Amino acid sequence: MNTAARGASVPVIAVDGPSGVGKGMVTRWLAQRLGWHRLDSGALYRILALAADRAGIGPERPDAVAALAPGLAIEFRGHSEADEAVLVDGRDVTAALRQERTGGLASRIAAAPAVRAALLQRQRDFRRPPGLVADGRDMGTVVFPDAVLKLFLDADAEARARRRWLQLREKDVDASLIDLCADVRARDERDRSRTAAPLVPATDAVVVDTTSMSAAEVLQTVERLLGSAGL
Ligand code: DC
Repeated sequence: MNTAARGASVPVIAVDGPSGVGKGMVTRWLAQRLGWHRLDSGALYRILALAADRAGIGPERPDAVAALAPGLAIEFRGHSEADEAVLVDGRDVTAALRQERTGGLASRIAAAPAVRAALLQRQRDFRRPPGLVADGRDMGTVVFPDAVLKLFLDADAEARARRRWLQLREKDVDASLIDLCADVRARDERDRSRTAAPLVPATDAVVVDTTSMSAAEVLQTVERLLGSAGL
C-alpha cells in the first residue's frame, strides 16, 4: 500500500471558516476530546509569510515565496493555546506568527496557486493515526475532501473583530476595534474572492453560524454533530 492510500484510512475532521470565527477553540477541543492530532494550516501560511518577509521577498513574487517552503524545518510544540510554540529552523517564532501583520501577509501569499501547491503535501503529512482535526480555509474542499465530518464555522465580521478585540484586551494589548474590523473585512474579501481554493463551505459541510452563540454553545453544537457522525 502506498503512503497516500494508508493515510486515507485515517479519519479527518475538517473545520473551515473565516479568520477569528473560533476554529482554534473548536479544533483544540476536538483534538483533545478525541485524542487526535491537530493541523493548524493557517500557521503554515503564516510561517511561510514570515520566512519570506525576513528574506525580503514580497507577496508579489509568489514563486520565490513558494520556493522557500520545502527548506523550512517546522516544529509544533504543546497542545493548548497557552503552551503552544512554533519553531522554524530551531528559532521560536510564536509571537511573530500571531501578529496581525503576519496574518495579512499570509492571506496575500495564500492567494497564489504556487504557494498553495507548495504547502499541500505538507498539510496532508499531518494525517496520522488515530485521526486528524484540520483547521483552515480549504480543509474540506481541497486538502482533505474525504474528511468524515466537515464543519464550516461562520460569523459576522463585526462579531469576529469584537471577539479578537476582547482577546487582545485580556492580554493588555491595545487595539482599535475599527482597525480590527477593517482588517477582518479585508482578509475575508481576499480569502473569499481568490480563484485558488477560495473560502467556501464544501457542498457536504455543516455550516454553523456562531454570530450570536457563546463559546459553550458552539462546543455543544459541535458535540452534537460529532454524535450524529458516529464519532
Ligand atoms: O487561520 P489564520 O488566520 O492563521 O490564516 C492566515 C491566512 O492564511 C488566512 O488569512 C488565509 C490563509 N490560509 C489559507 O489560505 N488556507 C488555509 N487552509 C489556512 C490559511
